[in-house]
Amino acid sequence: MQIKLAKVTAPTQRSHTEIIFVEKGVERFVKNENSTTLEIPAGKVEKLTPRTLRTLIRNVVLTAKKHKLLKVTISFDYKVFPKCHAYNETWFWSTIAENLLLADYEYLTYKSKKSSPTLTEVVLKGADGKFAKEGISHGQIVGTYTNISRDLANTPGGDMTPAILAEKTKGIFKGTKAVVTILDEKKMSKLNMGGVLGVGKGSKHKPKFIIIEYRGGKKSEKPVVFVGKGVTFDTGGLQIKPGMSMYEMHMDMSGGASVICSIGAIAKLALKKNVIGLIPAVENGVGEDALHPGDVLTMMSGATVDVLHTDAEGRLILADALHYAQKYEPKLIVDIATLTGASLVAIGQHANVIMTKDRNLEDRFRELGEESGDYTFPLPLWDEYKQYLKGVHADISNIPSSDSKYGGTITAGMFLAHFTKKMKWVHIDMAPRMTSVGSDKLAKGATGEPTRLLVQIAEMY
Ligand code: BES
Ligand code: MN
Ligand code: ZN
Repeated sequence: MQIKLAKVTAPTQRSHTEIIFVEKGVERFVKNENSTTLEIPAGKVEKLTPRTLRTLIRNVVLTAKKHKLLKVTISFDYKVFPKCHAYNETWFWSTIAENLLLADYEYLTYKSKKSSPTLTEVVLKGADGKFAKEGISHGQIVGTYTNISRDLANTPGGDMTPAILAEKTKGIFKGTKAVVTILDEKKMSKLNMGGVLGVGKGSKHKPKFIIIEYRGGKKSEKPVVFVGKGVTFDTGGLQIKPGMSMYEMHMDMSGGASVICSIGAIAKLALKKNVIGLIPAVENGVGEDALHPGDVLTMMSGATVDVLHTDAEGRLILADALHYAQKYEPKLIVDIATLTGASLVAIGQHANVIMTKDRNLEDRFRELGEESGDYTFPLPLWDEYKQYLKGVHADISNIPSSDSKYGGTITAGMFLAHFTKKMKWVHIDMAPRMTSVGSDKLAKGATGEPTRLLVQIAEMY
């Protein structure tokens, strides 16, 4: 889809359908002398919030595609949306461009009949200033990379192994300033990454540790490090997932995908920041060398871990990556993972769970969630939950050894906290946003979240 800027006064081209927002009524076409308009009910425009602006934009795309329109023109005026003035005009245009692209996305790689795109051109009337230009270009970059993240996550597990994810990462950064390094098993052994290697043992597709280093800022400036869970398929291991709970586990590398693609966008935007991405990539398989319940792993940090559950694999690989992150002396570490099913029980499917011991960071991340559209909501990491980490024979265990069946998202977060020590750190359990829900008005499958949030974090810190 091409997005074009035009002056408010520009005449609508003949080949275009003009979209008009009406307060009430029904969706309908109105034929004029030499043009057609499509009326879309949108309520009172002055009541439009950042949240409803996003869904309205997506609705325009879905409606246009439903009617097989090839080219549409829409007029926007930042001034008439007072509730969007919490953010600036660049944000406004960026949000519009980004959501046009997100709504247009479909995962068609495996469809045998390639249909030609139904919506090829969107002209945005009113987009003629410096802010519009900047914002639309920003939004197109962020939207495009979020969609690449969806492509990576939607790829079936059989076609997305750790090695393939590593290759794809190299491809995404080809010709950019960022440096991609892939550690294989041998190098990980030298670093004593017992967590990644342990989980990787159950699959013939060997683990890879993906490192992305983007240095757009001053040499002396400490980087932000993003750590993304890269489980290319999660069978649950020997404690195999039952029935349909294994379906969709090819998306268990969504956190990793969003790290790769946010830094992709950051490089494309040429942000003057230093950002590092670390993605431990493994398949959690059921091969004859797979971890057994009761196995003990020695992690890169030196801590020993009782593997009480082979399906709690994400925290095992992230522990090594979080420890590895220390070498960058980061000013902030953010890990992103489809870590627990319990997070969906806790908050449903409309927000990413954030967890941090730093109240300022918590508040900041909630705000950035609203601003970016990758909404976030907090859960605690209090010391009261530390007791559930106790090991049986090892230092700690990967699930509570005493029979605590509650608070699974928090105990997972507490496990990660053990490996972050005094670092400034935020954990994002993105399992709730791994796949879209109807009201998102996005294609079925991966959402690409929280790519937009990560870009915004990099811009802020
Ligand atoms: N990848 C899953 C979590 C998940 C479940 C993400 C559903 C998205 C949708 C994770 O590795 C896992 O299996 N977690 C277990 C932890 C349990 C064994 C303590 C879970 O949530 O059941
Ligand atoms: Mn699992
Ligand atoms: Zn998993």
